[in-house]
Amino acid sequence: MADVDTIEIHVRVNGTSRRETIRPRLTLADFLRVNCGLTGTHLGCEHGVCGACTVLLDGEAVRACLVFAVQAHDAEVTTVEGLTGPDGQLSTVQAAFREHHGLQCGFCTPGFVVSVTAFLAENPKPTDEEIREALTGNLCRCTGYQGIVNAVRAAADTAGTAVTEGPA
Ligand code: FES
Ligand code: FES
Repeated sequence: MADVDTIEIHVRVNGTSRRETIRPRLTLADFLRVNCGLTGTHLGCEHGVCGACTVLLDGEAVRACLVFAVQAHDAEVTTVEGLTGPDGQLSTVQAAFREHHGLQCGFCTPGFVVSVTAFLAENPKPTDEEIREALTGNLCRCTGYQGIVNAVRAAADTAGTAVTEGPA
């Protein structure tokens, strides 16, 4: 008889196919952090408020603490680790956060970087107002947000924001 306490899923995570047998109620956040060892996806509130756990699910920003891993079956998941280039080059958004002081302790940063990446893919030429609006779903306790706003502005103003930067 089949074990009803587990289920097999197939997910592509940062371009790598994974087939895993998991508990049906395992969250996508725990699947990524525990099963995949991708601890860049942070857990803050664990109830959809802080945005620290944001990842891309088929290109769309989602809160991994609110999504069951089974909901990612046959989908493509991208975490903050998957945004870097093949040789570890920072993406344009990541580089902009570094250069414009968009982080302090860094706890919120993966969630911001993933959210901003999705936002700029959808709206590559945002107004300052749109940038501030886009950031409302992520919380930061350190920066006061201005450095983050500046980083997003800089990333948007950099030609080809979806392209990773080469080595300096
Ligand atoms: S940990 Fe998921 S939104 Fe806060
Ligand atoms: S940099 Fe510390 S919470 Fe945002």
